[in-house]
Amino acid sequence: MPPEICVRPGECHVWTARAVSVSEDLAVLLDAGERRVYEALTGERVRAQYVTAHALLRTVLGRVLDRDPASLEFAAGPHGKPYLRDGSVEFSLSHSGELVAVALALGAPVGVDVERVPEPAAELPLPVLSAEERAVFDRVPGPERSAAFAAYWVRKEAVLKATGVGLRVDPARLTVSAPERPAELLGWRGREEAVRAGAGREEAVPPHPSVRLYDLDAGSGYRGAVALLGGAHRIVPRVVSSVRC
Ligand SMILES: CC(C)(COP(=O)(O)OP(=O)(O)OC[C@H]1O[C@@H](n2cnc3c(N)ncnc32)[C@H](O)[C@@H]1OP(=O)(O)O)[C@@H](O)C(=O)NCCC(=O)NCCS
Repeated sequence: MPPEICVRPGECHVWTARAVSVSEDLAVLLDAGERRVYEALTGERVRAQYVTAHALLRTVLGRVLDRDPASLEFAAGPHGKPYLRDGSVEFSLSHSGELVAVALALGAPVGVDVERVPEPAAELPLPVLSAEERAVFDRVPGPERSAAFAAYWVRKEAVLKATGVGLRVDPARLTVSAPERPAELLGWRGREEAVRAGAGREEAVPPHPSVRLYDLDAGSGYRGAVALLGGAHRIVPRVVSSVRC
């Protein structure tokens, strides 16, 4: 029987779902390691995020690979990027507030990031912006600053997650396009250092023409982005009304 969900080369499917409450029904899908992390988490919000994200990941991978979701085995790269042990499919997951996202692609490392737009009064960690980004950001009108900051942040973090270095690399080294412009990685200071830090394959580290960045429609109050290493992709958005096993 063919798998239920078909991801073709050149496509990146991105599922988003709401994590509103803790569900012990979903926890049955977790392996022993995930369950340990889940049980150590305190706070309803983060527990709901974790179990929903990991159950969603297992469910969609199971459908794409035609495998039992609970049987999938994961490992992690040197900086924590998870991968499938028998790894034919590249994936990334993210959670923030009530939103979780899972991105899947074939043969192209992928990074997804979603972020809740900070409250207008929140103090923004502006040092994560590069000098070029800061010059643009400083002209953003006050009421739009939180959303603009979130747009910068998800673009930068998506790239760092695609390469697998994550926040081991100072996000201020990356420069992405201004929020109202099409998403694009414009530069990465200290590329060689990132390679030495263990990003893996040198060709996977930007700036490089094969790094593609896309904004996601993450819904009201959120921003999202997905980065792919290895050429242009068609982004296929999939909204899940509720995650069930
Ligand atoms: C990955 C990272 C960017 C997460 O940022 P965040 O905004 O807090 O969280 P998100 O929800 O967007 O993403 C979390 C998911 O990213 C994935 N992830 C973890 N490390 C990752 C990495 N290096 N690259 C890509 N993805 C990673 C995991 O699936 C994680 O989900 P989980 O915690 O439920 O298992 C950040 O925690 C990081 O850089 N960690 C790795 C760097 C590090 O210091 N590692 C120490 C081990 S050597």
